[in-house]
Amino acid sequence: MMSYRTFFGLAKEPFAADLELDAIMTTAELLGVQERLEYAVRLGAIALVTGEVGAGKSTALRWSCGQLHPSRFKILWITASAGSILEIYRQLLAELDINTASSSRAVLTRLIRAQIKNLVTTKKQQPVMIIDEASLLRLDVFAELHTITQFEADSKPWLPIILAGQNNLADNLLYRTAVPLASRIVARSHLPAVDLPGMRDYIIHHLTIAGLANSPFDEQAVTAIHQGSGGLFRKANHLARGALIAAAAEKSQAVSAEHVRLADSELF
Ligand SMILES: Nc1ncnc2c1ncn2[C@@H]1O[C@H](COP(=O)(O)OP(=O)(O)OP(=O)(O)O)[C@@H](O)[C@H]1O
Ligand SMILES: [Mg+2]
Repeated sequence: MMSYRTFFGLAKEPFAADLELDAIMTTAELLGVQERLEYAVRLGAIALVTGEVGAGKSTALRWSCGQLHPSRFKILWITASAGSILEIYRQLLAELDINTASSSRAVLTRLIRAQIKNLVTTKKQQPVMIIDEASLLRLDVFAELHTITQFEADSKPWLPIILAGQNNLADNLLYRTAVPLASRIVARSHLPAVDLPGMRDYIIHHLTIAGLANSPFDEQAVTAIHQGSGGLFRKANHLARGALIAAAAEKSQAVSAEHVRLADSELF
């Protein structure tokens, strides 16, 4: 059977997750994230990015970090887990190119702080800590995080942090142990589900970067993807790709709402 990519003349896998930076669609929301990220970085403070699963948080962060000049900024990218602060430290040590056999919290804190100070004062590089999936962080970890961000009696805002996660992240930061950290938040972006025109643009964008000038999706198909995904990009990717496969299987050059429904019945 002819592959659906050949059938539609797609130069590459459409609706992919591993987009190059220049293939990311620069929506108003994306620019809003970038603006707030840069504001928090300038102040050495904290910014929050919230949104539903698959709304585009990690992509927005990746793009925004890509706009920071690599010689002036050092991105420390952490993917949070429900583990202890040691789990964060382990990733931070790797990002800071620190080798150590120690697992003493006190030692690790000292090493991390010394390296951050060295970056800022000697290497003239601004570290930017990104914590993706921060909604998974335990409450005690928020309190610990605060201590590595304090320099010279809190007079030096050397380590800006961007926390990204699902909507409960904002609630978690209201707990008492998170208050010292939360008090440094200066900006928040929320990535909403997109509306129907936004979803239409999104689909066309992905088809274009996969090498297809004319969209095979009819208007009802776009509406079905919008409804079926709740306006969330990752689910839309699965529906749109699945619908292309379903249409190709029927040798139909037009993708209809029925193809989207077929795709949806194969997902959960
Ligand atoms: N601005 C964009 N331009 C093009 N594609 C995008 C954009 N934002 C998101 N996507 C697509 O949507 C997918 C999901 O986005 P992303 O992984 O950033 O969501 P998320 O909010 O971080 O999800 P999760 O809550 O699961 O971490 C990406 O893999 C990509 O294919
Ligand atoms: Mg993500």
